[in-house]
Amino acid sequence: MSIENTAKHPIPAGFEDALVNAADYERLYDESISDSEGFWAREGKRLDWIHPYSIVKNTDFTMGQVSIKWFEDGILNVAVNCIDRHLPTRANQTAIIFEPDDPTAPTRHITYAELSDRVNRFANVLLSQGVMRGDRVVIYMPMIPEAAYAMLACARIGAVHSVVFAGFSPDALANRINDSGAKLVITADTAPRGGRRTALKSNTDAALLHCSDRVRCLVVKHTGDQTTWIEGRDVDVLKLMSEVSPECPPRPMNAEDPLFILYTSGSTGKPKGVVHTSGGYLAYAAMTFKYVFDYRDGDVFWCTADVGWVTGHSYILYGPLANGATTVMFEGVPTWPDASRFWQVCEKHKVTQFYTAPTAIRALMGQGPEWVDKHDLTSLRILGTVGEPINPEAWVWYDKHVGKGRCPIVDTWWQTETGGHMITSLPGAIEAKPGSATLPFFGVKPEVLDAQTGEVLKGNPAEGVLCIADSWPGQMRTVWGDHERFMETYFQQYPGYYFTGDGCRRDEDGYYWITGRVDDVINVSGHRMGTAEVESALVAHEKVAEAAVVGYPHHLKGQGIYAYVTLMNGVDPSDELKRELETWVRTEIGPIAKPDLIQWAPGLPKTRSGKIMRRILRKIAENDYGALGDISTLSEPAVVDDLIENRMNRP
Ligand code: WT7
Repeated sequence: MSIENTAKHPIPAGFEDALVNAADYERLYDESISDSEGFWAREGKRLDWIHPYSIVKNTDFTMGQVSIKWFEDGILNVAVNCIDRHLPTRANQTAIIFEPDDPTAPTRHITYAELSDRVNRFANVLLSQGVMRGDRVVIYMPMIPEAAYAMLACARIGAVHSVVFAGFSPDALANRINDSGAKLVITADTAPRGGRRTALKSNTDAALLHCSDRVRCLVVKHTGDQTTWIEGRDVDVLKLMSEVSPECPPRPMNAEDPLFILYTSGSTGKPKGVVHTSGGYLAYAAMTFKYVFDYRDGDVFWCTADVGWVTGHSYILYGPLANGATTVMFEGVPTWPDASRFWQVCEKHKVTQFYTAPTAIRALMGQGPEWVDKHDLTSLRILGTVGEPINPEAWVWYDKHVGKGRCPIVDTWWQTETGGHMITSLPGAIEAKPGSATLPFFGVKPEVLDAQTGEVLKGNPAEGVLCIADSWPGQMRTVWGDHERFMETYFQQYPGYYFTGDGCRRDEDGYYWITGRVDDVINVSGHRMGTAEVESALVAHEKVAEAAVVGYPHHLKGQGIYAYVTLMNGVDPSDELKRELETWVRTEIGPIAKPDLIQWAPGLPKTRSGKIMRRILRKIAENDYGALGDISTLSEPAVVDDLIENRMNRP
């Protein structure tokens, strides 16, 4: 994507009375930086506290002693903040609209009173299974309300949930159950998606073969599909829910008690368990939700993400419910039964804010505007994007065909690690520039550093790596079970700063443009993937000697997965073997990790010390092999010619 200092896109009419206007933004932002403690002391009060905090902030980014605490002596319960406190005024308001995969199946409207009933019952089921405060519970579920009940039930009793995206394989699920030390996994029989079904229960059965036999399995009978059943281990949740009490007293929790673990890919090793805690995370999710989406009573908010990702945690569940909002949970996919599904759902539920990923916009854009144009989208007020930089063509299409030029687009940059939005426009305050995430949210202090020297680049424009100079309440606290890895990953390279892993340019207006990851993480359709993970899956195959994986530009997915594979001696390359490796990676990690292109590599370019030169592999994958730079340090320069000659990505 070419990044220019494009003109600002004026805020559409009708946003004069937005919750935050341009003057508010400047004033509040300055206050949030100059008096961070005072600012957050006030903002923390948007939550209900059982015992209020007296200490607001206690954070240290110093390598070796990194420690992040917010509201540390406060006591609260997250489920109470998302449910109970709304009951006096909103008992009969819809909390969750469930839109099933099959458009002809009935929609469900779950009121706050019903949500309370279900979550209390679910919490009692967890207690009946011996789940205690601090225990980990893995949730491997379709996009159904029961997934939300399960998460909130954990929060109610102080258990720590770890949601695993339903697209992950049994192996990936087993790794997460084991790493988190979960006592229990919650799943469903099968998950309908796009007219097909994923066998979640049988995936869970397969995963549990690699776990302690003490791990129990709660099953939501969602489709009624036949599954195997192991007496004594498997539990029918819905049946038990109907038998237990609808009241479960909330457990008072410390602000710094973990609320959830979410596994995410990094540049090295296995996915790491990102830990978020109760008070700071919820305050930050609640506040960003309110201001970034200019949330008002009566709004119907739809975030199309899956609860298996952080976007689903913060903006399907916690942010909206902490505000007493109505949130849509969509089980389906954008293109089934046809490319009008998103817009049909927007029309049906009179959605006011619509939040999706650039990859979905590009896919729908390719189907032509007629799928959008035939729907009444007048209820829409604000559009959002998340997950990767949005290319200006997609931005313009989104603005024109979905927003009809009436709706501000908020491009929200953030990460699993940040808990909530970090750099984003605000509907009534910050004018957009297509492709830029614009300006920092309150309390966020971004800096652009020179990648090599670590020098802070002052003044505009500037280009380098994106770091954050101070803590914010939604920041992750540690890597589950490995604080050392937390410090090394985020605080070692640029001392005193949180390093995001993203490259970034700040333009003449001070707007931030994310240029993509600078580490070995790739972004495939807004899903984060470590190249090292795909490589270790490939080399685990008996016919593979060595593999190197890089990203390359993909017109729909943003980035595609390009794998260079060296086969074992005597193994012949074939298209059939390529299919075999694709299936292998799908089963090792999940469909999202399947390589888009596999190139047979008789050798990989390495330095004399044996280090793979990824820079060269990236260039060849990008079809930009003209200027490979200095290859004189290669031990065998000839392998490069072979790789170029047989490159896979030709326009
Ligand atoms: C990475 C984080 C929490 C959002 C969902 C993905 C990229 C995310 C944007 C954006 C440009 C973006 C970054 C970031 N990213 N949003 N609006 N513009 N890039 O969360 O899986 O933790 O991935 O997604 O590269 O580091 P994630």
